Amino acid sequence: MKNWMQYLILVAGMTSAATLLASGGLEEEGGRQMPVVNNSKWQAECSGCHMLYHPGLLPEKSWSKMMNGLDKHFGENASLDAATRDEVTKFLAANSADKQDNRRSKRINQSIPADATPLRITETRYFTAKHDEVSAKTFKRKSIGSPSNCVACHKNAEKGDFSESQIKIPR
Ligand code: HEC
Ligand code: HEC
Repeated sequence: MKNWMQYLILVAGMTSAATLLASGGLEEEGGRQMPVVNNSKWQAECSGCHMLYHPGLLPEKSWSKMMNGLDKHFGENASLDAATRDEVTKFLAANSADKQDNRRSKRINQSIPADATPLRITETRYFTAKHDEVSAKTFKRKSIGSPSNCVACHKNAEKGDFSESQIKIPR
């Protein structure tokens, strides 16, 4: 009987170790990467003027404010018909930084003060802290343009992949 119990404990221990390995290691809380998400209206309507920004990069309050002011979107008119706007708003809200279970989205969300509703990812404390070693001059390179052009340096940014091994600053 005693040996049987020890066996059970051993198996239970091995199973949880395997689960930890499969999820990517000890320090991972809900994974590091943002999950790949898809919505055809979002892809069609939000990639015409710039790259697609993953919904996990901003909290719901930011997306909601942005989607309610598309006629004055950073100096552009990005208005949508009501049905499309509602669908895209729902999609962004459902996958927003405060609904995500990955580490980066959580950190972005935590870096935004309760009384602030930033419309730019590039204005969050998380962003500025992570990029404090990239100079303003580098961001202005022709091959980059501005900090908002994540894909210039993070080639899989549209998929929500910002892993360090994928970072390459173009000349
Ligand atoms: C008509 C062109 C246009 C369309 C369509 C458009 N945008 Fe933009 N967007 C802009 C411009 C211009 C900026 C400011 C870019 C800059 O300053 O570098 C911007 C900036 C942004 C930023 C801030 C990026 C940062 O600096 O952190 C987000 C987020 C964003 N747009 C999301 C969206 C979403 C979501 C949609 C779809 C509903 C959308 N955009 C559709 C023109 C557009
Ligand atoms: C000029 C190139 C460049 C641009 C443009 C850029 N990044 Fe980065 N990013 C970097 C570099 C370099 C690092 C820092 C890597 C380090 O310090 O280890 C970084 C780090 C990050 C990290 C943290 C990675 C980690 O695991 O520590 C995230 C998340 C990130 N960037 C998101 C973005 C987003 C979102 C945008 C666009 C709104 C963006 N970046 C635009 C170069 C860039």
